[in-house]
Formats: sequence, structure tokens, C-alpha cells
Amino acid sequence: MSPERSGSISARSHLAAPAGLIWGLLRPLLFRLDAEQAHGIALALAARWSKAFSGQLAASDLARAPAFNVDAMGLSFPNPVGLAAGLDKDAEAVPLWQRLGFGFVEVGTVTALPQPGNPRPRLFRLPGDAALINRMGFNNAGAEAMAVRLTRLRERALLQVPLGVNLGKSKVTPSEQAAADYQRSSALLAELADYLVVNISSPNTPGLRDLQTVEQVQALVEAVQGPNQRLSQPRPVLLKLAPDLADADAIACAEAAIAAGCAGLILTNTTIRFDGLSGSTEGMSGGLSGRPVFARSTQLLALVRQALGPDPVLIGTGGIFTPEDVVAKLEAGANLVQLYTGLIYGGPGLVRHLLRTLEVRPR
Ligand SMILES: Cc1cc2nc3c(=O)[nH]c(=O)nc-3n(C[C@H](O)[C@H](O)[C@H](O)COP(=O)(O)O)c2cc1C
Repeated sequence: MSPERSGSISARSHLAAPAGLIWGLLRPLLFRLDAEQAHGIALALAARWSKAFSGQLAASDLARAPAFNVDAMGLSFPNPVGLAAGLDKDAEAVPLWQRLGFGFVEVGTVTALPQPGNPRPRLFRLPGDAALINRMGFNNAGAEAMAVRLTRLRERALLQVPLGVNLGKSKVTPSEQAAADYQRSSALLAELADYLVVNISSPNTPGLRDLQTVEQVQALVEAVQGPNQRLSQPRPVLLKLAPDLADADAIACAEAAIAAGCAGLILTNTTIRFDGLSGSTEGMSGGLSGRPVFARSTQLLALVRQALGPDPVLIGTGGIFTPEDVVAKLEAGANLVQLYTGLIYGGPGLVRHLLRTLEVRPR
């Protein structure tokens, strides 16, 4: 059955989020710090808040307005705007993301083995381009630590929105053993997730993006499905692709993913193409996110929707800052959207701003 939303969504305003008082004061201070230092402080505050409060949303909250509800992959999403992978790699602050209004949260990328990621500096701001460049390299505490944390969240019944767990390959695992590596994470985490993501599109793990071939997609999805299909209720699995694939290759990978049992795709990850930026990228390398990735990620989303037809679930990710950006992704064929970089520039009020200015029209 095709995923359903109760109505079509349009934008009442294309304005960027107005900075709230606290964010208006905090942002200049954080932006004066090194990007990763600022990220660390913000995440520590978010984690502390999440520990202290249940993070429960009042039933009347805007983020849960019935008109925003999306049913997809057998899950009920209170609204279509989710947190993209990479911000909360170790699931440290899920209650806060819910509180900010996100309709779903994707944690990770988590790898089977814990790993420190690449040496710093590895996160850069390009404010003039409303963009970030990162070469984090999947710094995370590993699948076992993630399992402990998610078990605690489940036991305390703190999750009120669907939770995705994004899986990647451990750096030390050779590409030939990638399937076993993803399988190990799936065995530990599938049961604790509402959906799983096979991430083969981050540019910062050597050789990872070379897994974006039909044969590898098939092998990796089957590996993740192994433990997942043994659950009494197997979780939907999505594949996340890069915007740098040629159109035909992206479509071939998408078709292979669906043939191997994926429920859908996430389009897209960051890009390694840095052309057309106004700021200097000297000394920077990795993946570019934010405004500059919007056009290509939306184009690829539309192409994949056209190729796959209406049934598979597509999550549109890349360069969402305004309500109009959300609408453009939905019109290009997304059932749901995600953002990361928009939150860094727009601040914690962004999701509520997006939802306040989105209008749902009955179909
Ligand atoms: C600092 C940073 C780290 C990221 N880490 C991950 C990651 O671990 N796994 C992943 O699938 N995507 C990761 N992403 C990509 C985002 O999930 C998203 O696909 C991409 O940034 C495009 O969306 P945006 O323009 O809204 O940021 C990361 C992005 C940024 C900026």
C-alpha cells in the first residue's frame, strides 16, 4: 500500500525561521567557537536536558496536529519533518529532538565497532553559503553502546516518535567483509529501532561509497535483513544514497534496494562537489551539506520517485531551511523529509517555525 498523508502540504511563508530570543543571543557566541567545539557544547546541553526531563510533548502540541500525520512503512509519523542522521550519532538527546517538534529522529551513523573518527579539525562552517563541510568519519561509541542507550529509552517509554537507526561500516573492516559488519550492527539494534538505514553514502570512510553498486546493495541489504527478518515484526529498512551518483547509477541502486526488500530510500547524503560556493574551502575536505546540496538532492529524489512509482517510501534530505524547501521535497516525491544543517543555522525553533507556516490542505 502506498504511504498515506491526510492532505497535501503547502507553505504559507517562505521566510527563514525568525531567531528566538535565546537563540538570537546564543548563536553569535557558539559561532565564535570552533564548529566542533560549539557542536559539543550544544549536544552536551541537549543530552543534559534529555536526562533531566522526560521530553514529553503535550498532546495538543503543534508538532502532533492530526493534519500533519503521515502513515508510512507501518509507522505513524506525527509530522513529516525528521532529524537527519549524524547530529546525534550515539542517541544522547532523543527526548530533546522530540521536544523541538521533530516528527521522527534518526540516530547514528553507528558502526559495529566503536571508533574515534578522523582527526580534528573535521567540521567547518560556511555561513555565506548556509553550508557545512564535515569529515567526521563516523565517530561513535559503537553498536553495543547504542543498544544499551536505546534499551534504556524504550524501558522508560520515552520515545514518542519513530526512531531510525542508521548503520555504517566500521573503518577497520575491509570492504569485502562489509556485509558481516552491517549484519552485526543489525543483530544488536534492529529490535530497538523503528526503522533501519543502510548508509553507504558518507564520503568520510575510505571505500564506503564504492559500495553503491547493484551487487553490493543487494548483499548489504540481505545481510541487514538476516537478523531483522527473524524478529516477530521485522523493521522497515531504507538505503541512503549520495547525490554524486550519476542518475542511472542512483536509479539502479534504488531498484536493487527495493528488489532486495527495502521499504524505500533516503535521498540524499552530503556531496563531495564543492563548486559554486562563495566562501573559501581551503583546508577543508569531506561532505558538503546545507543550501548548496538542495537542488541536486531534490532532483535525484524526483528522478527516483519517477523510476520507482508511488509505493516505496522516500525521505527527502538536503538543504532544508524554509517551509518552501519542505514543500519542494514533498512535491518532488518525498513522503517525509529530514534536516541537519538547517538546524545549525536556524536554531532550535526551526521545526516549529516550519510546522507553523506549513498549511495542510485536505485532498
Ligand atoms: C556534521 C555532519 C555529520 C553527518 N553525519 C552523518 C552520518 O553519520 N550518517 C549519515 O547518514 N549522514 C550524515 N550526515 C548527512 C546528513 O544526515 C544529511 O544527509 C545531509 O547533511 C544533508 O542534509 P542537510 O543539508 O539538511 O544537512 C552528516 C551531516 C553533517 C553536516
